[in-house]
Amino acid sequence: VQRSIRWQDDSVLVVDQRLLPHQLEVLHLYTPAEIVTAIQTLAIRGASTIGIAGALGVALSARQHTGPGAAVAIQADSITLAAARPTAVTLAAGVTRALTKLLDGPDAVLAEALRMLDEDQTINRQIAGRTAQLTRQLCRRRTLRILTHCNTGRFATTAIGTAIGAIKELAATGQLDQVLVTETRPLLQGARLTAWELREAGIPFRLCVDSAAPAAISRGLLDCVIVGADRIAANGDVANKIGTYSLAIAAHRHGLPFIVAATESAIDPQTSSGADITIEERPADEIRQLRGVPICKPDADVFNPAFDVTPNDLITAIVTESRVHPGGRLTVDDALAVAGPA
Ligand code: MRU
Repeated sequence: VQRSIRWQDDSVLVVDQRLLPHQLEVLHLYTPAEIVTAIQTLAIRGASTIGIAGALGVALSARQHTGPGAAVAIQADSITLAAARPTAVTLAAGVTRALTKLLDGPDAVLAEALRMLDEDQTINRQIAGRTAQLTRQLCRRRTLRILTHCNTGRFATTAIGTAIGAIKELAATGQLDQVLVTETRPLLQGARLTAWELREAGIPFRLCVDSAAPAAISRGLLDCVIVGADRIAANGDVANKIGTYSLAIAAHRHGLPFIVAATESAIDPQTSSGADITIEERPADEIRQLRGVPICKPDADVFNPAFDVTPNDLITAIVTESRVHPGGRLTVDDALAVAGPA
């Protein structure tokens, strides 16, 4: 399987996620500026992948700047990389982690970025396994009908994925009935990427428009909602792809577990609550056009937040590679009872 991002001969190779599902093509990136553009245009996307891209961007910068003035130039590149997208804390965290090795030289910076890439395999497996286990314990049916949003799989990470990793895990153990995939307007990560990935994995799914998901929940067509996270505030509020909040409200209304599967690196202790999370606003034309085709007058005013915040009291649990954090809908004892101690 083609990994979403890798290092080769002093360059970064990424699957160009803008072209899927029609083409699976690799983009060669040679400079930190090219990485920034790839992140901003969503050629590279998803919390885990952009974190590793940020670290590899610092590695590129450290190799390209040597001699007097190098430290200043690398610092400037790092600031630009970390700010390429504001919501996912993993991006700034990846850049910072790579920078900690700067004094040891460019090879050490690259080694640290590659270590992150390697660790992502294990982290994904742990999140997927733990989330699948919790899901089985919270849901009573033998085979489960799961709703997921956006793409948290092998493009958003560099391995099996977080929420999608759990879905793959349930499928592998014969405990999955079907997945309902939201198309994820406006950039269609669900329709373009998740549907593609589930088809590739041989996992049965149906695609729906985002606004159909609460109706599916209300009609009893689902057992559980599993999503990823871009940033988790210290109080357990979760920023994730726009539309996540409405899924959480619907799940709460109808008593369905709402599980967030994410890396520990998505937790930001510096951000006390969701109200403090910067929500990225994306270009208006993403709403005015559908894949380049105008769907309204070109001067229509637009509201285009890329993410929303789900308050912790709508969340059953947040599962990471090392623990189950109870959301507001599950007590610590409940979480430990169902998932065992960390
Ligand atoms: O704008 P995107 O496509 O980068 O948004 C991605 C998401 O919202 C994912 O759910 C999140 O990054 C978790 S992926 C491990």
